Amino acid sequence: MYRRGLCLILATLMTMGGCQQQTRSTSPHSTADSVSPAPSVPSAPRALTLADLDIKTSDFKGGNIQLKDPLDEDEYYCFDVFGFGANAQTVEPLSVHTCKPEGWRDATFQMDYPKPGQIYLPAYDLCAQATRIERGAHIMLETCSDTPLQQFIYRADGTLEMLPRHGRDAFCVVVHPADGIATGGPSHLRREVYIYNCDRIDAALKQWVLPSGAPALAPHDGIKLAPPAGPPIPPEMGPIAGLYQAVCSGCHGSNGEGNLTLQSPKLAGQSEWYLARSFENYTAGILGTRDGDRWGSQMAYHVSDLPSSIAADLAAYIQLMPDEPAAPLVSGNVANGKQIYDEYCALCHADDAMGLQALNSPRLAGMSDWYLLRQMHKFKDGRRGAHEQDIYGAQMAAIMGDLDTDQHMIDVIAYVNTLSSR
Ligand code: HEC
Ligand code: HEC
Repeated sequence: MYRRGLCLILATLMTMGGCQQQTRSTSPHSTADSVSPAPSVPSAPRALTLADLDIKTSDFKGGNIQLKDPLDEDEYYCFDVFGFGANAQTVEPLSVHTCKPEGWRDATFQMDYPKPGQIYLPAYDLCAQATRIERGAHIMLETCSDTPLQQFIYRADGTLEMLPRHGRDAFCVVVHPADGIATGGPSHLRREVYIYNCDRIDAALKQWVLPSGAPALAPHDGIKLAPPAGPPIPPEMGPIAGLYQAVCSGCHGSNGEGNLTLQSPKLAGQSEWYLARSFENYTAGILGTRDGDRWGSQMAYHVSDLPSSIAADLAAYIQLMPDEPAAPLVSGNVANGKQIYDEYCALCHADDAMGLQALNSPRLAGMSDWYLLRQMHKFKDGRRGAHEQDIYGAQMAAIMGDLDTDQHMIDVIAYVNTLSSR
């Protein structure tokens, strides 16, 4: 970016050609084939054109963010920085402009970068950020950060939705319904972009086509590339990964490994169907609402803003995380524990304690043992499994009547720990 700024100043004083060559030669992706001849040097000063200023690059992955419907613009509308080249105004809200044929810098965006859910403009090292999550808010370019205002969820219906907030309308990135404003050239139109209620605007004004392209961005001047947190993700999972990394990873870890200090259990390796149900139960007030359920209520509080409809996507994303067995912290009489397990638990949780979906029983082996122990206590004293809609928890709570002492619980978990290393 700095090199480019300098380059443009020099370009206005001297010629464009040398400058472009300099930029290209720093591109790690430049090949002899991709370097086109420098534009011919004009003999007399002339007005700079778009082609002079917007250095076409092949060193960014990503590309146009295009409105699916052309509306009144045959060449389609694409995300754009207002103005262009040296005149680009990153302090102005983002707008859409007639799409440029290839990856012009000011219209080349990288999705899910630097972190999932973010929309990155490599030429300026900035991220798209809503001014508010409210109708009428604009989208600015700001320093990339973890704010939810930079989290955009790409939905299957083509909408770009802001991070959902519980009990509030869903807000989407939309373009203004009024005709495009001419900006010069044969067909150069511009429209405002802003945030609006997803369900109150025509599909034509809210459906986008995103750049595909590999998630990796070539390193270039001024941008320090941090690898995105968490497991590698297929592009369609970017938004949900962004949400997980923004909301859940602080407690459960970016790879779902769990965090004892925060009393947050390991999620990686747990069955998809169980994770989805458990998350839904937390958002629905079925889990984490009993008096004395300190940690359950902490979990419930932090997801109370989220819709239960994302449970399946979250659970699918967690399946991508590496499943390292949790460190065993509970030890006891394993032989005694095996006896109890075989008699009371194996039927539902399976001999290897990997869980049985047919009986709705989750995996226990290799998961956070201190957490399992706490759950058994909660099932026994009614902090879990007593809610009238917690039908599966109730089954588990009924079993706990048969386990008389704390030592029985410790022994059985100690035995489960021996299974996790297999
Ligand atoms: C403030 C910390 C915190 C945040 C943020 C948080 N959790 Fe939790 N979560 C917990 C704690 C603590 C528990 C265990 C509660 C208990 O002991 O009953 C838990 C339990 C769970 C469970 C149950 C696991 C099991 O094996 O039964 C799931 C699933 C879960 N969290 C998913 C998520 C997801 C997905 C997010 C993000 C959308 C999230 N959590 C955000 C702290 C958190
Ligand atoms: C009748 C079937 C059944 C039997 C027998 C059973 N469980 Fe469960 N268990 C369940 C179900 C169903 C759940 C899931 C509850 C839910 O969805 O909230 C569960 C959940 C659990 C959990 C919580 C896991 C988590 O990630 O939150 C633990 C721990 C557990 N069982 C341990 C045991 C142990 C130890 C035994 C034997 C003493 C046992 N269970 C016997 C059905 C059973």
